[in-house]
This record gives sequence, C-alpha cells and structure tokens, in this order.
Amino acid sequence: MRGRGGRIDHHQRAGFAAGAGLLLGACSGPQSALDPAGREAAEVAILFWVMLAGAAAIWLVVIAAALFGSRWQKQPISERGGLRIILWGGAVFPTLVLALLLAYGLRLMPVLRAGEPALTVHVSGEQYWWRVSYTGPDGERIETANELRLPAGRPTEVFLDSADIIHSFWIPALAGKLDMIPGRTNRLVLNPDRIGTYRGVCAEFCGRSHTYMAFPVVVMAPSEFQAWLAREAAPATSTTDDGTFLANGCGGCHTVRGTAAAGSIGPDLTHFADRLSLGAGMLANTPENRRRFIAEAGTLKPGIRMPSFSMLAPAELDAIGAYLGSLR
Ligand code: CUA
Repeated sequence: MRGRGGRIDHHQRAGFAAGAGLLLGACSGPQSALDPAGREAAEVAILFWVMLAGAAAIWLVVIAAALFGSRWQKQPISERGGLRIILWGGAVFPTLVLALLLAYGLRLMPVLRAGEPALTVHVSGEQYWWRVSYTGPDGERIETANELRLPAGRPTEVFLDSADIIHSFWIPALAGKLDMIPGRTNRLVLNPDRIGTYRGVCAEFCGRSHTYMAFPVVVMAPSEFQAWLAREAAPATSTTDDGTFLANGCGGCHTVRGTAAAGSIGPDLTHFADRLSLGAGMLANTPENRRRFIAEAGTLKPGIRMPSFSMLAPAELDAIGAYLGSLR
C-alpha cells in the first residue's frame, strides 16, 4: 500500500482515514454490537475482540512463517527445516488457537440463555412487521406492535416465532440474533442494563421490504416500565372521532381495543400515538408521516399487505391521521 516513491501518498492517507472513520463510526450508536447496553451483547462484544485477537495472532504467525521460508533465509532451507515450519507455524499453532477460541465460545452458550425471567414477551415476525405480546402481571396478554419496551436491570424472556417465512430478531446493542422460524418457538433472554433507545432489525432476508423491518427498543427504569405496561393494558382513550377510520375499513385489519376496530391481520394500533415509529421502524411517528403512510403504504413499503389509500380525499387522510395521533 505504498505510493510510487515508496511513501504513502495523501490519497492513500485519506483513504485510510475514511476507512478507519467508517469502522470506528460503526462502534457506537443505537444499533452497534460493539457498544453493548445489555449483558448478552457485552459477552458477544468481548467474544468479538477475543476472536479478532486470535485471528490476528494466527495471521501474523502464518505470514511470518511464509516470509521466513521464502525471503529471510540466505541459504535454502533443508527439507526437515521446512517441514518443521509448516508443522508448528501452519498447523500446530493455528489448531491450538482455534481450539481455545472454540472452548471459549462454547463456554458462553449457557450464559447467553440463563436468567430468571421477570417478564415474558412473545414476538412474531410477519412480512414486514412485528407482532408483540406481553404477558401481564395476571397472565393476561397485552398486544402491541413494532416497538419493544424493556425494564433496565431485569431479565426479559423473549419467545420468537414467525407467521409466514423465516425472519431473524436482532437487537445488536442488547444480544445476539436469533431466527424466527414458522412452526417453532425460539427463546432468547435479554438483560438490558443501560436506559436508552436502541434499534432492532430483521436480520434474515425475508422479501422486498426486509430492509424496512425494524423496531425501536426503549429500555426504561423499572418503575416507568411498570407504569407503561399498565397503560398499554388499558383500552385506547381518544378525544378524536373514529368515524373516518372505521368507515374506510381500517378496523377490518387493525385492532383498537375499546372500539369497534377488532381486526387481527395488521398491527394492533391501540396506543399508537405513544409509539416512536410507524411502518415498523421505518418513519418517525409524525402527523405528516402518518398521512403519507396511509396514502402510500404500498409504494413506501413494497410487498406489504396494507393497500395504499391514495383514493382518499385530503380531509379524510387528515381525519385518520389525527385519530391515530390521538390514540393514547
Ligand atoms: Cu423479516 Cu427480513
């Protein structure tokens, strides 16, 4: 990687700086596995650095052995000497390092599944959103969608399945990824320890809008979380008229608990105004985006089952958007 004069020129230096910047930029933020906010992710981050160190050690020894054999010897190496380099540098050392890394990785597996859960959540993947169902204090199901809220410092047991094809549930800041497989329930334990908002994604290609299948994850103080869950369990309160929403058939697919809308094909919208995003982590939950999503759902997010309601008059779009924005 040297310029013509044998020195690193400024183009190459700029390239290195850009590359290093990109790499370091990926080390923090709401969706980084290297900036852990939970116990499982912390173990995975340490595993990553240990694996990287092991891989670097193997690479250095193998390259050194190759250079030693081909360049650094004044005299040709004897056959026995060559065999010794290949045996120790190319076989014994890598095998030893890889065996140690394997042992370390296997030791982690039970740790990543452990924990006495204080809370249970079911998450089901559907093209291209997340059906989320909490188990309340009395065993009742509290359904919501496209957002996960968790208490900090408490283990949460997450059961994962899929309603259609294989998806994968991944909150890089909190834990490793786990597939969501139709007809099978997988179990994950999350131990978030830092209050904040993170981002979860679908990590298995599942169709045209796979990239728009995400969700915000809000880690809250336990008392705040309990208050949120109690609010979530209650029926919707709205000060705005639901006439336009119901007249256009929205209730055929969506449930708003406490109203005539009781569909189960699409996401539950009971406390929609409290959610951070719409379209499963796709857009911020603002009046403009609500209006836009209703009118252009099928174009914004190709392949979803919700049609674009582009035939609605502006006043109707406003009325439905305002109703959704009032659902607390
Ligand atoms: Cu669901 Cu990718």
